[in-house]
Amino acid sequence: MNKPLIAGNWKMHGNADNAAELAKHLALHDITFAGVDVVVFPPAVHLERVVVAVANSAVGVGAQNMSQWASGAYTGEISGDMLKDIGCHYVLVGHSERRILFAESSQLVAEKFDAAQKQGLTPILCVGESLQQRQQGQTVEVVTAQIAAVINLVGIENLCKGVVAYEPVWAIGTGEVASPEQAQAVHAEIRSQLGSQGANTRLIYGGSVKASNAGAIFAQPDIDGGLVGGASLEATEFSKIAQLMVQG
Ligand code: PGA
Repeated sequence: MNKPLIAGNWKMHGNADNAAELAKHLALHDITFAGVDVVVFPPAVHLERVVVAVANSAVGVGAQNMSQWASGAYTGEISGDMLKDIGCHYVLVGHSERRILFAESSQLVAEKFDAAQKQGLTPILCVGESLQQRQQGQTVEVVTAQIAAVINLVGIENLCKGVVAYEPVWAIGTGEVASPEQAQAVHAEIRSQLGSQGANTRLIYGGSVKASNAGAIFAQPDIDGGLVGGASLEATEFSKIAQLMVQG
């Protein structure tokens, strides 16, 4: 089993005060999830407050998105270097909300993954199929193609140094969680796509993870943690999810 990773994706919620408060709560209780990497992904404008709030704790901070470019005339964009500079260590790339709502292609996602690694961040590559694709039996094809786009650009060795989050689109924010067996089956396919180098790559599951369903998901052999959206906005609930990984 790889060192577990529990990531909290706060999306576009909250304000500066409650971001800092949530981060402080987690930092104060970090002892209760010893042995688990807990990382939060606040909105970009709250990153610095959160970095300060978790200073000297085991809680890490990451960004929800970044530019594929290192610097330049790209109005509204934030580079990996800038994120690193203020204390981020991780970044999400290719979250389905970015792929769907902001038309991010697998090629662009691959470029962001590459830029993140070159700028010293650990990318968490998000992949997952839509409900229609699942119903049409295309889950594995879709997920492996999303991963292959990154392998084609950065090579399998670099892909394996990042994290892969399997997040079925139909399970995100819907309350409809993949069954532990469904999640494990896709994780096992991803693990086999990565070959021998993928044994140490962290594969995490996301999509309506809560304290009440996380235990059974985390008990699966190829699931090394979770990417948690809604339930990460509540300190006690998110801590409970991380603690399940300690016991698991
Ligand atoms: P959810 O979101 O836990 O609210 O389903 C997960 C995610 O989008 O990463």
